[in-house]
Amino acid sequence: MEMMSMNRKKMWGGKGWILVMMLMSLSLGTVVVESQLAENFYSSTCPNLEDIVLQSVKTKLSQTAPLTIPIPATLRLFFHDCFVEGCDGSILIASPNMDAEKDAEDNLSLAGDGFDTVIQAKAAVESQCPGVVSCADILAIAARDVVVLAGGPWFNVELGRKDGVISSSDRVPGNLPKPTDDWNTLKLLFAKNNLTTTELVALSGAHTVGFSHCSRFSGRLYSNPTDPSLDPDYAQQLKQECPPNPESDQVVVKLDPTTPDAFDNAYYRNLVAGKGLLTSDQELFSEPSTQDTVTGFANGGSEFFAAFGSAMRSLGRTGVKTGNQGEVRRDCTAFNSALN
Ligand code: HEM
Ligand SMILES: *[C@@H]1O[C@H](CO)[C@@H](O)[C@H](O)[C@H]1NC(C)=O
Ligand SMILES: *[C@@H]1O[C@H](CO)[C@@H](O)[C@H](O)[C@H]1NC(C)=O
Repeated sequence: MEMMSMNRKKMWGGKGWILVMMLMSLSLGTVVVESQLAENFYSSTCPNLEDIVLQSVKTKLSQTAPLTIPIPATLRLFFHDCFVEGCDGSILIASPNMDAEKDAEDNLSLAGDGFDTVIQAKAAVESQCPGVVSCADILAIAARDVVVLAGGPWFNVELGRKDGVISSSDRVPGNLPKPTDDWNTLKLLFAKNNLTTTELVALSGAHTVGFSHCSRFSGRLYSNPTDPSLDPDYAQQLKQECPPNPESDQVVVKLDPTTPDAFDNAYYRNLVAGKGLLTSDQELFSEPSTQDTVTGFANGGSEFFAAFGSAMRSLGRTGVKTGNQGEVRRDCTAFNSALN
């Protein structure tokens, strides 16, 4: 008893409290750092992280070559992950009951190759830095890598996300934009995720790669009259690709009819020409307040690239969990609690 109070006196008396204060402010400093993302988050715990992910993404692409399906699939997966529960890997969870986030009707047929890309990259990362890097961060890096590999811009990815512990199909409706959404609906949904209208326009440029099922836009073709914002020749071509029968539900059409595999600014030139595939695409040009932005991106590939990189970083901050707000999943498709 006496010893203890002696020790306590030693600890708190004299100059001890200065040390305690210093330690406290140090740990406060750590808390502040942990609540933010940082490009060098894994520089000491997994220094080769970005290399490992890039090599793995390249391997995945070589396995599916010459098809480039994993590129749009991975990019879109990142977007859907971020807009539901934040960028926390919740989209990757597989539920035996088919009630996880990815099972929602709004999952809009996310291609399995996007999931595979992340799962393979996670395996490669785990083999070198076990238990350190979140699936949310691996998805964020892979989404950047597929953009670069398709000819798009390099941008630094902020890291330090934790994986979430909730993944539910109930959380999806209302949080993802619909292809039939008008300008106001899109604007509000992106604002809810702290994204500006310029970022909305820039991120939509992701539709320079990948495909859409006919059902997502056929309403524009077979309304009476045909959607007047569609270029008539393009509308005619789409009607041939997507005849008004149930079989065309399985048909997919290129989102960018001009350079479908290249990550470039052709998407914006399409919009100017009335060749936006989805209503949500064409709205960006029909809307007076963003028409100049679209035209600017159509005329300037480097402006689009800079805006896209910056907007992807903003998207990557959406609802992130850091510190003890989440976990580092061992298996991207299951919560750690489900593995024990
Ligand atoms: C602005 C609101 C948006 C809407 C309404 C929208 C809607 C859609 C729809 C309906 C499809 C076709 C899905 C299918 O039928 O298979 C699609 C595909 C795609 N979306 Fe979006 N999207 C939006 C924004 C974004 C953003 C911000 C990104 C990424 C940054 C993105 C990336 C993609 C990609 C890459 C594809 C092609 C997927 C593939 O081929 O596997 N989209 N989107
Ligand atoms: C998307 O959801 C539907 C049910 O709405 C499901 O049949 C399909 O397998 C899901 N897709 C993926 C990739 O999970
Ligand atoms: C938007 O920003 C505010 C203020 O920084 C933040 O509290 C909120 O969590 C952010 N929302 C999302 C979805 O990231």
